[in-house]
Amino acid sequence: MSGASFRIGVLISGSGSNLQALIDGVKSGFIPAEIALVISNKADAYGLTRAREAGIETRVVDHKTFEGRSPFEHELIRALDDAGVELVCLAGFMRVLTPLFVRHYLGRLINIHPSLLPAFAGLHVQQRAIDAGVRFSGCTVHFVEEEVDAGPIIAQAVVPVLPSDRAEDLAKRILTQEHRLYPWAVKLFVEGRTQVKERVVHIQPAQWGAEQALIGPTPD
Ligand code: GAR
Repeated sequence: MSGASFRIGVLISGSGSNLQALIDGVKSGFIPAEIALVISNKADAYGLTRAREAGIETRVVDHKTFEGRSPFEHELIRALDDAGVELVCLAGFMRVLTPLFVRHYLGRLINIHPSLLPAFAGLHVQQRAIDAGVRFSGCTVHFVEEEVDAGPIIAQAVVPVLPSDRAEDLAKRILTQEHRLYPWAVKLFVEGRTQVKERVVHIQPAQWGAEQALIGPTPD
């Protein structure tokens, strides 16, 4: 993973399948950067194995060993800054970050969330989407602000919610798209193509076509 100069830090808590998508994106050259450090707040997170197998430096910073959020976040900041990280990616990191952390990395801290924000922030989002009867859900990559699961949206992917869906079916369908979306959004940031104006992210160059649309259920 040497040679690239832009350094990314990734925070995880679990399986790390999104981390894997970023690792693969870097490896293939799609993301012109290197992952300098992966931190987990859980020692048994499988994502740590993924990182080690890719030769990436890992750290466990267990929130339970700190007296409160602030010393925990100071330690995260110290580790990320020591690693010279320019972008911090939250990838299934299941701790709420306080303004201390968020302000330190404002504008270079991004998150992936399994809903079409601003709908369904928070937890159990797939079940909540099913219960609300929405026809579409998806995932969002956004800049992190002080409010949880809020902040300027970089990119979204949409999937259908099928009548037969259980929460785990929908989660799986969304996760497949997360693995496409996150590397793409990170690439845009690394290439300096994201610009936030009045809370809206502008992407250069814009790739939207006026004819693009989604219809659901699929017309006969
Ligand atoms: C992903 O679905 C991610 O969007 C979600 O946790 C999962 C982590 O999976 N994140 C959140 O809900 C954050 N609010 P992974 O560990 O396999 O990448």
